[in-house]
Amino acid sequence: MKKITKAVIPAAGFGTRFLPFTKAMPKEMLPIVDIPTIEYIVREAMESGITQFLIIINEGKECIKSHFGESKALEKFLQEKNKTEELKIIHELPEKIHLEYVYQHQQLGLGHAVLCAKDFVQGEAFALLLGDDVYVGKDKPATLQLAEAYEKTGCSVLGTLEVPNCDVSKYGICEPEEQSEGALVKLKRVVEKPRLEEAPSNLAIGGRYILTPAIFKYLETQTRGAGGEIQLTDSILRLMQEESVYSLAIEGRRYDIGSKKGFLEATVDFALKREDLHDAMEEILRKYTK
Ligand code: G1P
Repeated sequence: MKKITKAVIPAAGFGTRFLPFTKAMPKEMLPIVDIPTIEYIVREAMESGITQFLIIINEGKECIKSHFGESKALEKFLQEKNKTEELKIIHELPEKIHLEYVYQHQQLGLGHAVLCAKDFVQGEAFALLLGDDVYVGKDKPATLQLAEAYEKTGCSVLGTLEVPNCDVSKYGICEPEEQSEGALVKLKRVVEKPRLEEAPSNLAIGGRYILTPAIFKYLETQTRGAGGEIQLTDSILRLMQEESVYSLAIEGRRYDIGSKKGFLEATVDFALKREDLHDAMEEILRKYTK
């Protein structure tokens, strides 16, 4: 089985849950401490063996390009001031990776966004990473866990997490086949944002996927679904008529950056994990939680 080397990262949504910040700034640029969330996503892909990256953007998201591109003026300034550490920080990613961009001109839904990646993918299986979900994998990055499951099965694999009843209607929900056990299970059905009464399980799609290229055939003809949007989950359901689709419970910690609580949690936890900020964050928490 050929290894997964291509990653698609949709970043063209309006980010209405984070208004007013997202009026002029992409939500993908929200920093967790001092790194934009989209950089965590790109690094996860990089650490999972991805060598070709596509970010799906729109006209309001040019600063994502600037973030990953070169900055001659800043470089010159840092060189003149002998700031070698800072130079290293800004050089690291542009030297290591090459990113491509494609524009999604209409925000018609995740399925429509992924369809914009068809030319980039060129008939290969690929990783899809959604920016609202940031993972710290247990022993290995979330995307690598899925890529290894793909190498075993040769099929699409959806990364999942268990969510409480009150949250099932916010996610794509998986129905495993009967008798399936363990972390890697074959799926019978997926349904996007079901009402609790209709949800087949608490197994939610957690923003990480390996998809086979057959998905594009279904995306091309996909009609609108939940929320009036062209839903990726609906095309995955149709793909199941042709190919098996699996889900894998991702091992690790997940931060839901799409929610304000998840964003705050990530900020606190990432700062606590940093040598240079651990004590300061502890001091802040003590001060405000007395
Ligand atoms: C998208 C997907 C959904 C998935 C979720 C994970 O929904 O459509 O299936 O469970 O991401 O974050 P969104 O959160 O963009 O509405």
